[in-house]
Amino acid sequence: MRRPLVAGNWKMHTTPQSAVELARAIVRAELPADVEIVLCPPAIAVTDVARAVVGTPVRVGAQNMHWADAGAYTGEISAPMLVGVAEVVIVGHSERRADFGETDAIVNRKLRAALAAGLTPIVCVGETEAIRDAGGARETITSQVRSALAGIDSAAAEPLVLAYEPVWAIGTGRTATPKQAAEAIGWAREALSQALDAATAQRTRILYGGSVSPGNARELLAQDGVDGALVGGASLEAADFIAIAWSAIA
Ligand code: 13P
Repeated sequence: MRRPLVAGNWKMHTTPQSAVELARAIVRAELPADVEIVLCPPAIAVTDVARAVVGTPVRVGAQNMHWADAGAYTGEISAPMLVGVAEVVIVGHSERRADFGETDAIVNRKLRAALAAGLTPIVCVGETEAIRDAGGARETITSQVRSALAGIDSAAAEPLVLAYEPVWAIGTGRTATPKQAAEAIGWAREALSQALDAATAQRTRILYGGSVSPGNARELLAQDGVDGALVGGASLEAADFIAIAWSAIA
């Protein structure tokens, strides 16, 4: 009942021109009809990529946004600016948490703004290696989910997508084992159930992210509760990303 979703997070890669070429290569290919596919280019390429995928089922997302609708926030983009261009936005990616000081409170403000604007947010949660080694992964995931959703009710949260991205697996080539991914996603769904309600938690898609590749995607995405993937490096190669998208159907 949860439609698989495979999203490419292109991070700070591509130029506006190469982003359009990559998007074109993806939409030209045969794509699995039962999988929702989202491309998240750098902000400067979002509009061009959105144009390049018009008339296809592929959707476009931003990698970040500010919580305010407008204001003196040099360099930022807001949810109302994205509306009509992108349908999706990544919120609380671990790189933003670690490198740009995004706290749980900021993630919550951004999530509220994304939902209020009618965007589909992909909220990222995940533990560091030190936390996992110390046995704190479940607690971290639970508290990140709870904080992100503070003050948001089930009806408002409806389009929400979560992504479990263990920090130690991002860009390292070290993927979580299918068992670790399924277990952590189970914790995240349990936290969702407590923060919202059981039915909403059952309807909410939770992705795995962290060194997903054509070689490991099938097994990861076959796990119970793993509803798709948030792909970094491998999403920059059209053939790899397309292969991962096909892996999402059983
Ligand atoms: P990699 O797939 O490059 O590990 O990146 C994962 C990620 O951070 C996606 O948001």
